[in-house]
Amino acid sequence: MKLAIGADHSAVDLKEDIIEFLKAKNITVIDMGPTDKSSTDYPLYAKKVANAIQNKEATAGILICGTGLGMSIAANKFDGIRAAAVSEPFSAKLSKEHNNANILCFGARVVAAPMAKMIVDEYLNATYQEGRHQKRLDLINTFEK
Ligand code: RB5
Repeated sequence: MKLAIGADHSAVDLKEDIIEFLKAKNITVIDMGPTDKSSTDYPLYAKKVANAIQNKEATAGILICGTGLGMSIAANKFDGIRAAAVSEPFSAKLSKEHNNANILCFGARVVAAPMAKMIVDEYLNATYQEGRHQKRLDLINTFEK
């Protein structure tokens, strides 16, 4: 698995923490930035991560801003992207099992690092269940055309 990760100024420290967490699991991480905490605009990083998934440079992504909301709103504008903003592990698990989310979003101002790691773990350990869920994702796909 190759994960692309991006953040905004509010989430640089949490991004670095999550990168170390992922690397310790031998997951390849593409860090899309930013590397410093000067004010920036989250849609720029949502685009980088969404594009990395669209062009198959990454299999999935993580986007972190203050709330996770702006990142998910921006990332969901890109075809084929299913970005889920979550703040607890149960939704993270279901975002993969039911929605086949390919980007996990959360907020550095909402969840502390230990909770963020639980969220990431649930997402990584979950498997898309297909079946009845695929029909619903196919319906969503028709909205893109
Ligand atoms: C930045 O101040 C903040 O708006 C951003 O991190 C995020 O929470 C947007 O959804």
